[in-house]
Amino acid sequence: KKVVLAYSGGLDTSVILKWLQTTYNCEVVTFTADLGQGEELGPARKKAEMFGVKEIFVDDLRETFVRDFVFPMFRANTVYEGQYLLGTSIARPLIAQRQIEIAEQVGADAVAHGATGKGNDQVRFELSYYALKPDIKIIAPWREWDLTSRTKLLDFAEQHQIPIAKDKRGEAPFSVDANLLHSSSEGKILEDPAQEADEIVYQRTIRPEDAPDKATVIAIDFENGDPVAVDGVALSPAALLTRLNELGKANGIGRLDLVENRFVGMKSRGVYETPGGTILLAAHRAIESITLDREAAHLKDSLMPRYAELIYNGFWFSPERRMLQALIDTSQHSVNGRVRLKLYKGNVTCVGRESPNSLYSMKVVTFEDDQGAYDQVDAKGFIKLNALRLRLGAMAGRRGGAL
Ligand code: ARG
Ligand code: SIN
Repeated sequence: KKVVLAYSGGLDTSVILKWLQTTYNCEVVTFTADLGQGEELGPARKKAEMFGVKEIFVDDLRETFVRDFVFPMFRANTVYEGQYLLGTSIARPLIAQRQIEIAEQVGADAVAHGATGKGNDQVRFELSYYALKPDIKIIAPWREWDLTSRTKLLDFAEQHQIPIAKDKRGEAPFSVDANLLHSSSEGKILEDPAQEADEIVYQRTIRPEDAPDKATVIAIDFENGDPVAVDGVALSPAALLTRLNELGKANGIGRLDLVENRFVGMKSRGVYETPGGTILLAAHRAIESITLDREAAHLKDSLMPRYAELIYNGFWFSPERRMLQALIDTSQHSVNGRVRLKLYKGNVTCVGRESPNSLYSMKVVTFEDDQGAYDQVDAKGFIKLNALRLRLGAMAGRRGGAL
């Protein structure tokens, strides 16, 4: 039996690796993805070697991640429950996809992941596995083993000489997931939603209070709804997001402290940092504001929460997500142009937008003489007919919209 493990090199997945080898008695192939989490991946390879793993995959997936997952999602201005930019949710299908590819390549019949049995990630990984390989066997150690607590896990690690990384204070770290789009932290003191998150939780942004007193103004260019350049410099998808992350970090942008609804039914509290994504969302909305027709914009906005929920719940590889994606992508053909943004102490403000495909007509909207571009008299009938049902209601005794 052979299993491909999604291996971060961290404590949990190292314990899982050892557990699979000893308890499960199977040959483990490790797969470590570079999604821009900002960690050296050399150590993950070294550790896998130390565990006697023969087939070790370490892949740089940053460009694929941003081009084929992050950007398509941002075309919809996607946020879950009004705030969460889905940094973890959007990475899971890519990890799963590559894991299945590797399983097919090395002839493994199973895949394994390190998500707990309580959260969203197990659902996202496994829905993706099944959608791509319906007969795949899945091993989810967190749901099977007797290491039912953090303490038992640490004991197991000690027994098998698995190093335990500590944070700056010498404590066991938060449950962190990171990639080019975001970092998320959960657990420990954050489990009390009443308690403010300590500064130590934040890892990729400075405090807005510590950000420069002078605003930074930047320009982002869009083509077909995707950002292609920052300040006139063309950048690859991953390089562009990296650049926005730097700008966001320096200006304290993209911090979020949120209680959200997990798919499995419980609420959880997390702290997120999405510096570049927060800038990108504001910029994309700004370029759409002049390039999209009103009803096209409102239609995609009305579908966005649905689309966000699909991604959050793990249905990236589903017919309904593909249908929505086709609609969203179609809407983006005219979403071209440049947005200028001011970054200042945690805020992103659009200060200018221009496009060769702009629908904005100064001639029509002007408060000055429009020289016949618009006939004000048209508005009279427009309002009168829109009012007809309201007037009939009022005449029937239902004034002011009374039911
Ligand atoms: N709550 C977020 C989500 O469901 C983040 C999950 C973080 N995952 C982790 N393994 N720490 O998308
Ligand atoms: C986990 O359960 O592994 C992390 C949290 C989540 O997936 O929601």
